[in-house]
Amino acid sequence: MTTTTSRIPGLHKLSPRERLQKVAETAGLGDDAIAHLADTGNLDAATADSMIENVIGTLNIPLGVATNMVVDGQEVLVPMATEESSVVAAVCNAARQCRGSGGFTTAMSGSLMIAQVQLVGVTNPEFARLQILEHKSDIQAICDDTDPVLLKHGGGFRDVEVRVLEGRDGPMVVTHLVVDTRDAMGANAVNSMAEAVAPRVAEWTGGRTYLRILSNLADRRLARARATWSLEDIGGAEVRDGILAAYDFADIDPYRAATHNKGVMNGVSAVVLATGNDTRAVEAGAHAYAARSGQYRSLTRWEVDADGNLTGTIEMPLAVGLIGGATRSHPTARIALDIMGIQTAERLACTIAAVGLAQNFAALKALATTGIQKGHMALHAKNIAVMVGATGDEVDKVAQELVAQGKVRVNVAEAILKSLRG
Ligand code: MEV
Repeated sequence: MTTTTSRIPGLHKLSPRERLQKVAETAGLGDDAIAHLADTGNLDAATADSMIENVIGTLNIPLGVATNMVVDGQEVLVPMATEESSVVAAVCNAARQCRGSGGFTTAMSGSLMIAQVQLVGVTNPEFARLQILEHKSDIQAICDDTDPVLLKHGGGFRDVEVRVLEGRDGPMVVTHLVVDTRDAMGANAVNSMAEAVAPRVAEWTGGRTYLRILSNLADRRLARARATWSLEDIGGAEVRDGILAAYDFADIDPYRAATHNKGVMNGVSAVVLATGNDTRAVEAGAHAYAARSGQYRSLTRWEVDADGNLTGTIEMPLAVGLIGGATRSHPTARIALDIMGIQTAERLACTIAAVGLAQNFAALKALATTGIQKGHMALHAKNIAVMVGATGDEVDKVAQELVAQGKVRVNVAEAILKSLRG
């Protein structure tokens, strides 16, 4: 299959079906591939077409449910969309092991988002800073006029802050609009506010505004979760100390911290995706927050309580919403929220933070004890079994034999399947 050209004028004007035909012709796709893409599953083509540009199909990702979670005293089933094996099982295991100690306790610092307005071309930035701050009530009026619906729901402008930064070509004056976006993720709301305020900032200061956009470092929207794992539930002091040593490693070494936080995000992003929220926004915020001290560090912290039990905490920006974007338009995302019984963006963020902590516990425990390959391999073995053509009962039989032989490989699976079929 070779693409003959990447120029397809007018592609965007076609229907998804027509586009698929066009792309198939251009890329030389066969009938099977066309039929595969034409089946959009539980996201109908018209809805998909209203979400992004140049739609030709949809991509299904498995949706699992994490069990055993107790968050602030409430039982909650957590839908997770991920392509990675072991992620859902890890949360189930971690949550089960802290149920006896009451599960997860969570809190949120607020639902404030920041939009930035960049101003350049002033020689006296401190003077400009005060000029902008003096217009706080004008800024409030502009912001709140921009989004009356948000105002009706108890949100809206909360504060203005102005920072003076040293740019390559002179000073930069950066205005932060601090806005309570309540149950919305808030990107659209605050971006519109920044665009509305920017011309006035230029007018008041005589400078020139460029960027007007939210910051994904949502550090006024921190979700916090904590939990205790008793020594008895985790299997003793040696396991606890292994987890503490793993945490220590992440906290002093960015190479390890990146992997440690990747594990946290395995859980976080899976729930963010399942609920139709913006995974990239949450990921960017999480990693920027992890680097706030100047060194990239762990998003979680692990300690020992007075009784020797293991305690874990997580604190991270979690800008997620219940209204707007795919959360509303994607039918699966709406049902995912129903499964969780979530009514506010705050509850969603807090639950996601708890999942991130659970995920990290499970990863550190596995790494500090048996290693992660054992668990991974059992699921990976099933994938391999399916890959070589095993069906029905054969899948488990081939997978078990692969694990028993300690050789989870395609050629071994083929041989096992062959001998099974006699
Ligand atoms: C794999 O997706 C995630 C882990 O690497 C996380 C970690 O190392 O902490 C297991």
